[in-house]
Amino acid sequence: MSAIPVIDMAPLEGSDADRDSVAAAIDRACRETGFFCVVGHGVPPELVASVDGLAREFFARPEEEKARIAMPHGGRAWRGWFPLGGELTSGRPDWKEGVYFGEELGADDPRVRTRLPLHGANLFPEQPAGLRDAVLEYIDAVTGVGHRLLRGVSRALGLDDDWFDRHLTETPTILFRIFRYPPLPADTRAWSVGEHTDYGLLTILAQDAHGGLEVRGPDGWVAAPPVPDAFVVNLGDMLERMTGGRYRSTPHRVRNPGGADRLSMPLFLDPAWDAEVRPIPGGPRRDLAHDMDRWDGASVHEWSGTYGDYLFAKVAKVFPALVDDVIA
Ligand code: OGA
Ligand code: NI
Repeated sequence: MSAIPVIDMAPLEGSDADRDSVAAAIDRACRETGFFCVVGHGVPPELVASVDGLAREFFARPEEEKARIAMPHGGRAWRGWFPLGGELTSGRPDWKEGVYFGEELGADDPRVRTRLPLHGANLFPEQPAGLRDAVLEYIDAVTGVGHRLLRGVSRALGLDDDWFDRHLTETPTILFRIFRYPPLPADTRAWSVGEHTDYGLLTILAQDAHGGLEVRGPDGWVAAPPVPDAFVVNLGDMLERMTGGRYRSTPHRVRNPGGADRLSMPLFLDPAWDAEVRPIPGGPRRDLAHDMDRWDGASVHEWSGTYGDYLFAKVAKVFPALVDDVIA
């Protein structure tokens, strides 16, 4: 039995009592593990399979072809492909390659006009040709799942269902990534991705059948094994900050011990770039004991500012070479 609960989110569209029961399950999962799986999310399995298949086709193309959409071409929008070893989590290179996408924003969007980092147009490869439409449809569908889940989180916190919509996620920061994790070389004990927490509100992850994701539960590391047609959901630092530590931004890591490539696709649904993220009104006090031992030694409770400031500082650590480009 996995320690990661599976929650059917379909009743979030039902009666008050239905919503209360989902909210109670969400509340328990957020307090205990900060990780859960959702089913009943309404995203067609064919859409997930199509993005997965097209992404595998892309990763199999020659390096020089993939390099045509390499991240330096994405500029301040911070989009595109990076090669194996190109991203540093916890200061060490991850054993993965990937593509960064986000909400597709044109030059006329106010956030692009004011030159906000991480906002702009995606870079799509010419081949496979279907990747663009599949990715955009996927981002739309899974962003919708995230907004619906946040209504459940609001209810779980005793707030109005639309609290997040009104305060933090009317114009959310949406990032979407597709990763390929090759088997780890046999002579290394490194992680495919080292221990870290996510930065924002909710991460909604589709993983293939391979396994390898591990979560730091209250009693030690536990596996988050694949559940067919489910998304893995975990909380980011902003939810931990807002709830004074009642909800957990749980450390996690990935290890692909071998056999075959592992593919995963996380979508990050985060606060608006200029939103100030504060503890929620009437919320609990911070839990000092818990933030003593954070992976990065930094407390999310002592920091204050806009979500954009927080995210930018974090991303600068995992892609140091790109910062000059953006600050320039
Ligand atoms: C992440 C992450 C896990 C995975 O991108 O933040 O933790 O399974 N990904 O790819
Ligand atoms: Ni993560």
